[in-house]
Amino acid sequence: MKTLGIDIGGSALKGAPVDTTTGKLLAERFRIDTPENLSPPDMARAVAAMVAHFKWKGPVGVGFPGVIEDSTIWTSANLDKSFIGCDGGKLFAKATRCPVAMINDAAAAGVAEMHFGAGRGFMGKTLLLTLGTGVGSCLAYQGVVVPLEIGHFPWGKHGKSVEKYVAASVRDQKGLSWKEWGGRLHEYVEVLEKLLWPELIIIGGGISADHAKFFKHVKPRAKLVPAEFFNNAGIVGAALWAAEKK
Ligand code: BGC
Repeated sequence: MKTLGIDIGGSALKGAPVDTTTGKLLAERFRIDTPENLSPPDMARAVAAMVAHFKWKGPVGVGFPGVIEDSTIWTSANLDKSFIGCDGGKLFAKATRCPVAMINDAAAAGVAEMHFGAGRGFMGKTLLLTLGTGVGSCLAYQGVVVPLEIGHFPWGKHGKSVEKYVAASVRDQKGLSWKEWGGRLHEYVEVLEKLLWPELIIIGGGISADHAKFFKHVKPRAKLVPAEFFNNAGIVGAALWAAEKK
């Protein structure tokens, strides 16, 4: 079966048709840069442009960086606030004339990694973190993926969201060395291990391609591995989700 996976992120949306029986991309992924935060109608136009690029007719899965209930978006930490309360499924289905299934972007990455990537065949407790503009998270156990929002608990003396301390974007903004940023990630993972006791931790997001540079500074109890789909996990997982929901 084939579905189109789209991953909406802080600075771009990326998409590709996916063979949902293998998790393989069926065409080179396409990227639409969004240098400014798009409003929901503008995002719907961008999603429609993605669908048009692939001349797609069929199910579409959309990963969005916020809390998703059914197809409604309830948080939007790094995108336009007017997404809050918006039915993303309806909005994007209207713009594309395709059936649309919505999923949190990190949960999508979890679905891809547990099916075909770094967590395939593993039934124990797995924590997946995506490090990009923000911090995305999900747990998987016995193959079931549960979305989490553990990038937002208060951290440090000012009590800001912890993602403002450990997201990959913070490394760039503050010019942190791999050692400094890896040390931050270590502190964060130490807290998460006390709360969640994962057996396996998968690190995703674009930065996972550089895992050799910072894994040496993170020393969890759990086994630590990079995502196998690197930055494509969100696309593949959203596509798998759309196939499951069909
Ligand atoms: C959002 C999450 C999302 C993560 C990664 C966070 O700011 O609250 O829902 O998964 O960023 O994009």
